[in-house]
Amino acid sequence: MRILLLGKGGQVGWELQRSLAPLGELVALDFDSTERHADFSRPEGLAATVQAVRPDVIVNAAAHTAVDKAESEPALAQAINATAPGVLAREAAALGAWLVHYSTDYVFDGSGEAPRDEEAPTGPLSVYGRTKLDGEDAIRASGCRHLIFRTSWVYGARGGNFAKTMLRLAAERDRLTVIDDQIGAPTGADLLADITAHALRAASRDPSLAGTYHAVAGGQTSWHGYARFVIGFAQARGLALKTAVDAIEPVPTTAFPTPARRPLNSRLSTARLRQRFGLTLPEWQVGVERMLTEVLDR
Ligand SMILES: NC(=O)c1ccc[n+]([C@@H]2O[C@H](COP(=O)([O-])OP(=O)(O)OC[C@H]3O[C@@H](n4cnc5c(N)ncnc54)[C@H](OP(=O)(O)O)[C@@H]3O)[C@@H](O)[C@H]2O)c1
Repeated sequence: MRILLLGKGGQVGWELQRSLAPLGELVALDFDSTERHADFSRPEGLAATVQAVRPDVIVNAAAHTAVDKAESEPALAQAINATAPGVLAREAAALGAWLVHYSTDYVFDGSGEAPRDEEAPTGPLSVYGRTKLDGEDAIRASGCRHLIFRTSWVYGARGGNFAKTMLRLAAERDRLTVIDDQIGAPTGADLLADITAHALRAASRDPSLAGTYHAVAGGQTSWHGYARFVIGFAQARGLALKTAVDAIEPVPTTAFPTPARRPLNSRLSTARLRQRFGLTLPEWQVGVERMLTEVLDR
């Protein structure tokens, strides 16, 4: 199997370089790769890259993920999140290749408290969410064989993440205020990359598995619950922090005004993914503990 991975340097792209390697020959590119055009801000140039590599599978981990910045640069977000995936889908269809793509809980409006399944009505609140939905729609309309994984609250051990920010702030301050009315599931980039490799292997043998799937870790929490977990775990491991777990104050989303509106209910039902692919999704704490252990042991 020949795999073209785009966005290799992002959180998910980095882990995909590991998880996809055993599946076949991997050509991994970033937006500034010199060997081939892989800059999603110029989408049409991607066609030549796909035609030159002639992959059996395209895995797209590139995206405009700066949710607040997207509000002031909607054309760029549209090019990267919607037009470029559309070009990849068109080229995949022409080649008979698979396209694997990632989307987000931000395609929903986040009303209510129930977990949403893949058929739930969409209603993005932000430019990021709208452009990601347009990207999904372009892929589905292209007729290419595809796997779209909608995920949420992604973290990786490499680079910055929410947990590392909490640890830094807790080392400096006596008290922290953290949002407690957005509910979701922190999901490891490593878990997503492993899901991708397993699903791709299964789907390449059974094309009826093509489609859109919700892919997040098990369980749910708020950012406040996530922060309490991170700080409690670090203190139990002996890290000296100024903020005690009980000094993390819960506040509503409205306490931190941002350019982009975020959904309050980011719960996603993963029943379809688990049933069709026979996968188990560990509780979110399992992956966060593992990431924290890597971070704290450095
Ligand atoms: N992060 C989350 O919480 C989250 C939640 C739900 C869904 N998702 C989805 O999951 C997927 C992976 O996200 P992630 O967390 O791995 O995001 P990420 O770490 O921001 O990675 C995105 C990658 O795309 C690259 N990129 C940016 N502009 C580009 C361009 N013009 N051309 C080519 N590449 C470009 C980035 O490069 P630079 O870093 O150099 O800019 C980065 O390597 C995305 O589809 C995202 O929408 C993420």
